[in-house]
Amino acid sequence: MRFPEYRPRRLRQSKAFRQMIRETYLDASDFIFPMFVVEGKAIKMPLASMPGQFQYSPDILAKEIKQVVDSGVSAVILFGVPSKKDALGSQAYANDGVIQQAIKRVKDISPDLTVVTDVCLCEYTDHGHCGVISGETVDNDPTLDLLAKVSISHARAGSDMVAPSDMMDGRVGAIREALDESGYEYIPIMAYSAKYCSAFYGPFRDAAQSAPQFGDRKSYQMDPANGDEALREVELDIDEGADIVMVKPALSYLDIIWRVKSSFNRPVAAYNVSGEYSMLKAASQNGWVDGERCMLEVLTSIKRAGADIIITYHALEAARALGKAEAKR
Ligand code: PBG
Repeated sequence: MRFPEYRPRRLRQSKAFRQMIRETYLDASDFIFPMFVVEGKAIKMPLASMPGQFQYSPDILAKEIKQVVDSGVSAVILFGVPSKKDALGSQAYANDGVIQQAIKRVKDISPDLTVVTDVCLCEYTDHGHCGVISGETVDNDPTLDLLAKVSISHARAGSDMVAPSDMMDGRVGAIREALDESGYEYIPIMAYSAKYCSAFYGPFRDAAQSAPQFGDRKSYQMDPANGDEALREVELDIDEGADIVMVKPALSYLDIIWRVKSSFNRPVAAYNVSGEYSMLKAASQNGWVDGERCMLEVLTSIKRAGADIIITYHALEAARALGKAEAKR
């Protein structure tokens, strides 16, 4: 069918037609909101490189959690920022560690809010790498035991789902086995499966104080140039027991989201990371782009590419914007 029989503009001429043929809808329930929790009291510290985002101490989470719930967003992903770091990242699995306190606090405030927890060591190690160091390398296999310990401690504190972001080989299997042995066979794993070694994590590393103190993460995170390798990573994680697989970052990797969604019949999450958020905020604060419209366009593109779940710092704003649009209809 071609012009003049087919005129695509026919179905664009009214709002009713446009709505009728709309293919992608965003909903507050698509989003997971990331939050940074620091040790201390009465802290609400704005993050300079992530306008509108903060570090919170566990004691003052109530107000913020209420805002999350009121926005309609039904899940948060928590990142702990400990005050003490050591070579093994022991605060990551300490019973009274900042993340364990944060999980309990959020569950006390709002038992129905789903709490996802990031499982990694980089915020907790003094060298800033995501695993145990031996010489100059990150030693894969000894790291697995620690990640399993971290996951169990999160589950014990009340986490609803663990999300390993370390990119060690075999960690999903190790975590699944450990959770099952400890009686947490119903705690799902959302695996950061295709996690790239991306410069877009810059602002997050300020927020989580997790920049590597030497070298980089190229020996464990993926090369941005690779696509087939992402499918191999996802396949491995599914074989090892991942319930949800993730692509991260989102925007420069929409093709990967699409390939993962079309190759596997699994729920796919995409992480709209810190640098993607900050870029848009900076342009919008300068008046260079319409921030709200760009935000919704970005999130729609991630969903259209195949993501079922979007982890995004825009979550609350986006949920509110969608609510407003709904009210106007
Ligand atoms: C921890 C982790 C990182 C992010 C999520 N979990 C940083 C990293 O790998 O350096 C990045 C999230 C973001 O940029 O928003 N490994």
